[in-house]
Amino acid sequence: MRTLGFGIIGAGLMGREFASAIARWCHLLDVDFRPELRAVCDKNPTILAWYRDRFPGISLLTEDYRQLLVHPGVEAIYCAVPHHLHEELYTAILRAGKHLLGEKPFGIDRKANEAILSVWKERPELFVRCSSEFPFYPAVQRIGQMIEHNAFGPILEVHADFRHSSDLDPDKPINWKRMIALNGEYGCMGDLGMHVCHVPFRAGWFPRNVRAILSKMVSTRPDGKGNRVPCETWDNATLLCEATDPTTGEGFPLTFRMQRIAPGETNSWNLEILGMKASARFSTKNPRRLELLEYTGGEQAWKSVDMGNETAFKTLTGGIFEIGFSDVLLQMFAAFMFEWVHGTPRSRFAGCVTPDETHWSHRLFSAALESQRRSAVIPV
Ligand SMILES: NC(=O)c1ccc[n+]([C@@H]2O[C@H](COP(=O)([O-])OP(=O)(O)OC[C@H]3O[C@@H](n4cnc5c(N)ncnc54)[C@H](O)[C@@H]3O)[C@@H](O)[C@H]2O)c1
Repeated sequence: MRTLGFGIIGAGLMGREFASAIARWCHLLDVDFRPELRAVCDKNPTILAWYRDRFPGISLLTEDYRQLLVHPGVEAIYCAVPHHLHEELYTAILRAGKHLLGEKPFGIDRKANEAILSVWKERPELFVRCSSEFPFYPAVQRIGQMIEHNAFGPILEVHADFRHSSDLDPDKPINWKRMIALNGEYGCMGDLGMHVCHVPFRAGWFPRNVRAILSKMVSTRPDGKGNRVPCETWDNATLLCEATDPTTGEGFPLTFRMQRIAPGETNSWNLEILGMKASARFSTKNPRRLELLEYTGGEQAWKSVDMGNETAFKTLTGGIFEIGFSDVLLQMFAAFMFEWVHGTPRSRFAGCVTPDETHWSHRLFSAALESQRRSAVIPV
């Protein structure tokens, strides 16, 4: 069992999810590595106190990330900070010789993403990936196996979307995710976009071009101090792309929808693949359900499969039980470590987003901004 020394920079919502996953590492049955949380950095002392109380073994709690970068016991860093800090922190982490699991969008914009990738190219021995957990739902793992075995046949259409509803309330106080300076020009695409791109990109379905329609519905929000301040970011984005099916060379429609204001949806990640031989649908609304239509001639009928706990990395939980968000995060963190330790993912769809895939997402979102500005189809 190899022990992997980890640090966290940006220890808020996602940093705590990572710490919690480490705390129940015993849940995983078939991995030959074990992460150890050795250092945590956050600007907020209240957050550091949360770690102090719950993880007494951490040897360094600091507000200065430079101290964490020179900690000799830290081999790899999970970095989950607001987007305007990705370039500064990710490049500093790589220059310090640490492996990196960075959060999306992996740079606030395309320029920042390219700056991160160029520092990584100087240190190719470092293992670098971007987080995205939704492919680790068992139903999506099954869809990934179907893609690997070319079970869909020629692709007719693919639709990937991610919908949140909480910003429907115009009185929801503003946070950094609604500010261009901290979240970026991409708005909801920077916030939600990597999640919808991961499976199509891993399948090799890259957009040739895009027509984007972006909307801003709420122009001001309370600042929590009695005032209303500008709410600047795009709330919703619909991207209609033309992609190429690598197995036939033919084009097909690929749509990505990212919505902060989707009435009634809490955290709905949806994927629909329609092919000539098979079709599949999955939604986190019903996290164990996989809908499939396999066509061999004759009557066309959708069937519904209850997937149970059929995960990429086996766990203590029995095969018939249902899966949840914190379970797929545990799977994703295991996938990062597995690929780092073994040099290859356990399977094609059991891997985190690669740096090149993050660059594809930046090409797409930059083109989408231009498409919105010009009301035109833009090459990606
Ligand atoms: N994978 C997912 O499902 C998912 C979900 C939510 C957010 N995210 C991503 O995670 C990242 C963080 O989002 P979050 O929701 O955890 O945000 P958050 O605001 O909860 O946490 C960010 C933390 O960074 C800290 N911070 C700010 N500046 C810092 C600095 N200079 N040094 C050290 N710490 C600093 C803040 O104090 C805060 O605690 C973003 O990139 C976001 O897009 C991913």
